[in-house]
Amino acid sequence: MAGRFEALLLLLLLLGNFVGGWTADSSPEAEPILGRRDFPYDFVFGVSSSAYQYEGAVKVGGRGPTVLDVFAHTPGNIKDGSNADVAVDQFHRFKSDAELMKDINLDAYRLSIEWTRLFPEGRGNKINQAGVDHYNRVFNSLLENGLKPYVTLQHFDIPQALEESYGSLLSTQFVEDYANYAEACFEAFGDRVKNWITFNEPHLVAAFGYGLGAFPPQRCSAPFGNCTAGNSSTEPYIVAHHFLLAHAAAVAIYRRRFQVKQGGLIGITLDAQSYEPLQNTSDDIAAVQRARDFEIGWFLDPIMFGKYPISMQDLVGHRLPMFTKEQIHAVKGSIDFIGLNHYSTSYIKALPKPTQASPIGYPTDSQTLQTAFRDGVAIGSQVNGVNIVPRGIRILVNYVKARYGELPIVITENGISQIDNGSLSKVDALHDVVRVNYLKGYLSELATGIRNGANVKGYFVWSLLDNWEFNSGFTVRYGLHYVDYKKNLTRYPKDSAFWYKQFLAHK
Ligand SMILES: *[C@@H]1O[C@H](CO)[C@@H](O)[C@H](O)[C@H]1NC(C)=O
Ligand SMILES: *[C@@H]1O[C@H](CO)[C@@H](O)[C@H](O)[C@H]1NC(C)=O
Ligand SMILES: *[C@@H]1O[C@H](CO)[C@@H](O)[C@H](O)[C@H]1NC(C)=O
Ligand SMILES: *[C@@H]1O[C@H](CO)[C@@H](O)[C@H](O)[C@H]1NC(C)=O
Ligand SMILES: *[C@@H]1O[C@H](CO)[C@@H](O)[C@H](O)[C@H]1NC(C)=O
Repeated sequence: MAGRFEALLLLLLLLGNFVGGWTADSSPEAEPILGRRDFPYDFVFGVSSSAYQYEGAVKVGGRGPTVLDVFAHTPGNIKDGSNADVAVDQFHRFKSDAELMKDINLDAYRLSIEWTRLFPEGRGNKINQAGVDHYNRVFNSLLENGLKPYVTLQHFDIPQALEESYGSLLSTQFVEDYANYAEACFEAFGDRVKNWITFNEPHLVAAFGYGLGAFPPQRCSAPFGNCTAGNSSTEPYIVAHHFLLAHAAAVAIYRRRFQVKQGGLIGITLDAQSYEPLQNTSDDIAAVQRARDFEIGWFLDPIMFGKYPISMQDLVGHRLPMFTKEQIHAVKGSIDFIGLNHYSTSYIKALPKPTQASPIGYPTDSQTLQTAFRDGVAIGSQVNGVNIVPRGIRILVNYVKARYGELPIVITENGISQIDNGSLSKVDALHDVVRVNYLKGYLSELATGIRNGANVKGYFVWSLLDNWEFNSGFTVRYGLHYVDYKKNLTRYPKDSAFWYKQFLAHK
């Protein structure tokens, strides 16, 4: 997940004060027990993960380095100085992890394929058979345990060789290399994988990797960050454009060569906060729409309508790349479902138009300010930059329905961390009452959103296990299972795992 980048954005752009501690969310104690029966009969419940944060084994089987390896190994980037060379060792433990999921009665597991296990240099004609063999074992093991794999093709882990040879996402060459990799995945695994996600959180990569420089490949220009190279006013838009073209190229190949035969679906996952106007004014209400346009509309408007949102066209102007006729044709309609990673809700305040002297860049183009506070009162309790606001998920899916119609939605991530800087005991970590309440609150509101008409098909908790997080390393715990990092990475179910299990038992 990526909530801490929101926190960073707050630090960079906000004036607000942070308030610690919990403000209790009202919990519906007297209501009937929430369960699977409150959702459509074919709704899919799962948990989510990503290759770099889980697998470890970074030198095994000919895997090539990615921009994440470089980022994690650069001093100062990760809070506890850690990296994910070992992570939670899922590379070796996928069988027992599948059994953990079966034990909760999950329907599905969202995981990602590491591009550089198949193509260590990111490109080429020859696929690395050791990588194919590994994922064959993983998918077979999931299916044996009754778990549908939901597979993300690219989850932040751009091959380092592509970064070095041509600047990866800054070049149109990326589109061809990505499409080649995606095609190899459909070919090798599409007989068993029926749900594909082309990219994870392209907005986060563009905004934080190329706007603020806080995420790999750490490019930006002053005053938005302190990077050795980059251009915050142009590169985020170029990168997003190439994400869209690469997505469309992969979808075209899937539809042309595989979809009919294999019978699967393909989508893309976006990071999507929920937004509310800071004040009930037309200015702040319009600013909420801009915040949505610059986050999910950036990708979904081209995919659904064949053009960038009007607000982006107006405010970014000639810095926004143009689609050719052929590109529009490829991008428009290139989707079977939209994945949304949703954690948090913020208030949005309209900012005045920039003056001649103001810095121009993606971080300021939307002329919005995010804040967690209205008149000094927090919008919800905060953990590690995430504001706990259960209604946010309902407002989000109802917004997607209102703007994009019947496009099926899958909540591909939702969850909350426990901060563990050494002060959290294992016993306290196992009794994760905050997470149980978070899941109850969000699932209850999601069910209401579906009753209101949102076309939601699935929901995945981030995450199955405690794992390695960007910037935070091992100092936050997102798992339904505790991982004992001092005792051979042993997994222990937390209260939230037991809660999810009983939720899924209420049919
Ligand atoms: C910017 O980064 C360089 C090295 O990466 C460091 O020496 C310098 O102090 C940083 N400047 C600021 C203003 O943070
Ligand atoms: C960014 O690119 C634009 C357009 O090419 C240029 O006008 C601007 O000077 C560049 N900014 C930096 C910081 O290089
Ligand atoms: C916002 O203002 C409008 C018009 O003044 C009013 O009808 C509406 O109830 C207000 N909404 C909220 C949430 O206060
Ligand atoms: C560790 O986390 C706890 C609880 O989140 C916090 O109160 C404490 O100040 C933190 N300690 C350090 C050294 O960061
Ligand atoms: C650690 O756990 C793994 C997986 O259960 C096991 O194969 C290995 O033998 C264990 N190592 C030690 C030192 O206990």
